[in-house]
Amino acid sequence: MNALRRKARRRCPLYLTAEEREGLRAASRFNADLMDYLRPFVLPGTTTDQLDKLAYEFTVGHGNRPACLGYKGYPKTICTSVNEVVCHGIPDNTPLREGDIVNVDLTSIVDGWYGDSSETFLVGQVAGEARRLVQVTFDSLYVGIAAAQPFAKLVDVGRAIERFARTHRVEVVQEYQGHGIGREFHQEPGVPHYVPQRGQSQVVLEPGMCFTIEPMLNAGTWRTFVDSRDNWTVRTLDLSLSAQFEHTVLITETGPEILTTTKLGPQPGHTF
Ligand code: MF3
Ligand code: CO
Ligand code: CO
Repeated sequence: MNALRRKARRRCPLYLTAEEREGLRAASRFNADLMDYLRPFVLPGTTTDQLDKLAYEFTVGHGNRPACLGYKGYPKTICTSVNEVVCHGIPDNTPLREGDIVNVDLTSIVDGWYGDSSETFLVGQVAGEARRLVQVTFDSLYVGIAAAQPFAKLVDVGRAIERFARTHRVEVVQEYQGHGIGREFHQEPGVPHYVPQRGQSQVVLEPGMCFTIEPMLNAGTWRTFVDSRDNWTVRTLDLSLSAQFEHTVLITETGPEILTTTKLGPQPGHTF
């Protein structure tokens, strides 16, 4: 470890060397490939359990590990959050229905590195209101990423997303945030998608930091509750629709690098 790196690590525990960045890139790329693999199966009639099984088989079939399975007792490989479910929906035997929106959140461990991303899919033909929420949420992720420039502040990311959401009259979930990621699933810093009253705001984004940005936007209130039947499923308090997109993002010397870009999924600027 040279002096420069030692100094960087003291300022920022997330500082990653060139070699470490490659580990993270590979894990994130695999996670994106898994998303592309699942994509054609997200259809009316498919159960979320079927998606979960496909994800499990694909992951272990490639010699990798599903990060969520067994994480704090979580029972499945993926999270599938349908309509008013904000996040951490547990796959089950309910078939997806035409008109649903479903967030599929994947996290893979590849050679000890974590890759984490999610997409909200439109199931068949979807009503205008739901499609609009998905569009705004998708766009808000890229607005947040654009703010994640080297030497900007972490709070700039949340501020950009919150402003964008307000312009489009949707609300930003506060209880769940993005997170540092690397050899651990969830690490510091937390990445709020709004401007918090205190804390975190002074964190400076330095080259070598890696974290997720994963805004959850609600058509109604930002408030949520956890389903007491499974202690996982998070719903909007007013049962309004919620959407989410997530990327793993590395801060490089020249700008934010999205590590979980899919080949087949919606690209920045996409119209749903
Ligand atoms: N992938 C989620 C995230 O973006 C975390 C899911 S944890 C689980 O941070 F246990 F619910 F799977
Ligand atoms: Co995730
Ligand atoms: Co995440």
